[in-house]
Amino acid sequence: MDDKKPSTSDILAKIRAQKAAAAAVTPAPVAAPAPVAAPAVTPAAAIAPQSKPGSTKDILAAIRAKGAIPAAGPSAPAVAGVSVQSEVKAVAASTSPRPSVQDMLKAVREGQGVPSSAKPTVAATSAGKVPVVAPPVPSKPVMASKKVVQPRRGFLMNAVVTISYPFLSAFRVAWTSMAAVTGVATLGTARFMFPNVLVEPPSKFKVGPMSDYPLNSVSNKWKDQYGVWIVHTDQYEGRNLVFALASVCTHLGCTPSWLDGEQKFKCPCHGSGFYMTGVNFEGPAPRPLERVGLKIAEGMLEVDKSVKFQGEMGQWNDAASFVELA
Ligand code: FES
Repeated sequence: MDDKKPSTSDILAKIRAQKAAAAAVTPAPVAAPAPVAAPAVTPAAAIAPQSKPGSTKDILAAIRAKGAIPAAGPSAPAVAGVSVQSEVKAVAASTSPRPSVQDMLKAVREGQGVPSSAKPTVAATSAGKVPVVAPPVPSKPVMASKKVVQPRRGFLMNAVVTISYPFLSAFRVAWTSMAAVTGVATLGTARFMFPNVLVEPPSKFKVGPMSDYPLNSVSNKWKDQYGVWIVHTDQYEGRNLVFALASVCTHLGCTPSWLDGEQKFKCPCHGSGFYMTGVNFEGPAPRPLERVGLKIAEGMLEVDKSVKFQGEMGQWNDAASFVELA
């Protein structure tokens, strides 16, 4: 579009061309307009329908008298151009049956590139005020939508992944199985390194000095821990002896109890009874209680359960089965 504002000569040339075209279509005779004195004509008079300028000079005189167009200016300013259009509209409207005003204004606006929304009102034009044309509101820019850019994998990488995927799955399964088996084997090895162990008391242990065991007494001090009684008595063959008896019934292996009031061992299972010396005297027990090894070591009585002595076998005469006091 041409930004250059049309001059008055251009506007008049367009008007003349339109007039000529209208005359060719409708060759009706046009009455000669009355002469108008240019300096005395007011804008309202120039636009009034009763004074109909016919020639170009009359039109220009009327417009110049209004002051909208300078007398010798090459081109009108942008705002004045709108006023010129209004004047041309008024003049053209007075030359009926010439082309209509709307057609003329449309032709002029199209030639100047003026938008139709900037068309001034008739009231503002007649009052001689310059209309204020609001600039068009710019359209809202369209924001570009954010798109997530996915990393693209090359053709070679796609081919490698596609071909190796089954093998990768197989390797994954194999390694997982191997890891599981290895874990189970490791746990088994660890369990083997810590087996169930039945901790038994030592077979040899010290039970204190001789003075802890008075004559004709039975001590239960070591029965629960080591399963022995320490007996100090002079009732066996009249000898002052200290020996250790195993707390196991010789009938079926129950644990008898020492009854200090009755001065005997009594088995709770079948009622076998034993004297303080360990000799059986009642119940089903077939033989005396067994002795274990006893000796003095470092001034202390030391019991050795690894060695047993049976009275019915004559083993109580073994010096390792007792400690004799003078
Ligand atoms: Fe002691 Fe039978 S086990 S009497």
